[in-house]
Amino acid sequence: MSQALKLTVFGNPIAHSISPLVHSVFAAQTGIAVDYGRTKVEGDFAAAARAFFAAGGAGCNVTVPCKPDAFALVDRCTQSAEIAQVVNTIKREADGTLLGDNTDGRGLLTDLERLNAPLAGAHVLIVGAGGATRGIVPPLLEPRLGIAQITIVNRTVSKAEAIVADMAALKLGAPGQLNACAFTELKLNEPFSVIINATSLSLKGELPELPDALYSSARFAYDLFYTPQGCTVFTEHCQRHGIPAVYDGLGMLVGQAALSFALWTGVMPDIGAALAQVRAQLG
Ligand code: ATR
Repeated sequence: MSQALKLTVFGNPIAHSISPLVHSVFAAQTGIAVDYGRTKVEGDFAAAARAFFAAGGAGCNVTVPCKPDAFALVDRCTQSAEIAQVVNTIKREADGTLLGDNTDGRGLLTDLERLNAPLAGAHVLIVGAGGATRGIVPPLLEPRLGIAQITIVNRTVSKAEAIVADMAALKLGAPGQLNACAFTELKLNEPFSVIINATSLSLKGELPELPDALYSSARFAYDLFYTPQGCTVFTEHCQRHGIPAVYDGLGMLVGQAALSFALWTGVMPDIGAALAQVRAQLG
């Protein structure tokens, strides 16, 4: 019998992480044995990760605040990680070198497609310009999706502008497809059909300061944050404003985890089935 694959998630705080639950659902579904733990990083991430791999670790996920350190640690990166400049998944290759990937953006896109988000011709507003936004923007710029425009609005507008400049330097997206602005510059005469909350505000139970008219014109809203109940302050606010399709980020979490699992094992789990099980177990 082959040994269980030794995996973990690094971060701080980490006790709340549901990644072990998600991966146990994938393991049961695919018949691939995994031993997936949680590792709290209190000092040097690189030292903790090296010790894990030296002790037989096959792969790991990396969460806040270690993602930039993981990017610095790995020997080589996938294109997704290179573009995002942050790593959320590491695989130990057969020769002992470390491969870094960023599955957050593709995890979101997989979930948006599963939910039939109206992306073709959409005007998308992304609220926030942190590491999460860096991860999700590149897949949304894929020409096959046909998104008309993506605007990043952020309290610190220079961070949104830096993402736009970096994507332009990488020649991602059509000219003018991606732009940045401050909250005070949001154009109400140019309504957004899709709103994605990529700020950390839901974690604190707070809302981004968007004009009410902007919520009212949207057809689809998504919060990268999730709760066991499937609602956040942001999703509840969107529902109150009549947005017909509103989701929290549990599907993205399961989606990005599935892509990590596939990188380690070569087997892609069924995300929809796993999501239903994870939601039920959380409930
Ligand atoms: P992550 O890596 O998960 O994206 P982050 O880098 O800490 O997390 O980014 C958090 C995002 O939430 C940022 O866009 C941040 O805005 P700033 O870049 O101006 O800091 C946004 N955010 C956090 N608190 C906020 C607040 N009170 N009002 C508006 N935006 C806020």
